[in-house]
Amino acid sequence: MKNIKISLLGLGVVGSKLLDYVRENGSELSRRLEVQLSIDKVFVRDVAKRRAVDVSDLILTNDPYEAVKDGDIVVECLGGSGAQQTREIVLSAIKAQKAVIMSSKKCLALYGREITDAVRENQTYFRYDATVGGCIPVSSVLESMGKCEKINKIYGICNATSNYILDEMQNNSTYASALQKAKEKGFAENDPGDDVDGFDALYKSVILAGFGMGHWIDCDTIAPTSIKSITAEDFCKARQKESAIKPIFSVENKDGRYSCFVGPSAVSRDSILASVKGSNNMIVISSSESGERAFYGQGAGAKPTASAMFDDLVKTIKEIRH
Ligand code: HSE
Repeated sequence: MKNIKISLLGLGVVGSKLLDYVRENGSELSRRLEVQLSIDKVFVRDVAKRRAVDVSDLILTNDPYEAVKDGDIVVECLGGSGAQQTREIVLSAIKAQKAVIMSSKKCLALYGREITDAVRENQTYFRYDATVGGCIPVSSVLESMGKCEKINKIYGICNATSNYILDEMQNNSTYASALQKAKEKGFAENDPGDDVDGFDALYKSVILAGFGMGHWIDCDTIAPTSIKSITAEDFCKARQKESAIKPIFSVENKDGRYSCFVGPSAVSRDSILASVKGSNNMIVISSSESGERAFYGQGAGAKPTASAMFDDLVKTIKEIRH
């Protein structure tokens, strides 16, 4: 039976939840996939820090390259800060022909072209589902659609925090209290400015275009609109027009010209996007052959994100086990 070692990078909210999933499901997974599965080394910035999760059976290191060295699959849960350092670690893992699973969307959006080129050149395995759409298996969808269809447009709602805040404000909450609740529920980034000002959705749009349309849009060329500009009067006007205000993203390829929009918009109350409530996301993919297909699910929080990573882990094990 093949022994597959996982190197885990980061033991924050998502990394810890993923560790729980591996511990809970690891032996069943090993039995079904006929592999020996172990978490080998874990990179954490502070080895001595007290943690909510039991680390007594893990080898912790504050050297990310040490963690990467011996693993077969490198699972990156480093969070939003330090995109440049994450890039270096991920590229070193790919060049060492490790299979890589990423969750840091900012890093993938900024360096996606370089990372995917390195994956191709080194002929290794790469998955990124946790970067976009929470538990929606968007990478598998794009992968299978991309085989025979041309994707023209991808749009919808991909920031749970903004959607939650706008929904709460629509129900007469203040912006500050809605944001506070989104933080308490674990939807918001460490810096919630990325969520409310549209940068998180911008990174996700770039990733979707990169994998779905094969074109990496330069993040600097997109100017997102913040939801902070929305006032009570806007909600009132939208209500009069039987609309709801939602945090919309859209990327489009029109004859090789790419455009991207991220910002709050009024959508008809009867539209499917208006039905996306709270922390849910919806990603609509419009392609030459199938028309529009919509994918819906929880877009934020430790459990949906770690579950997306766990799915990526299962797929990767299936790919590398022989
Ligand atoms: N802060 C992100 C959001 C988390 O609210 O959508 C999931 O990427």
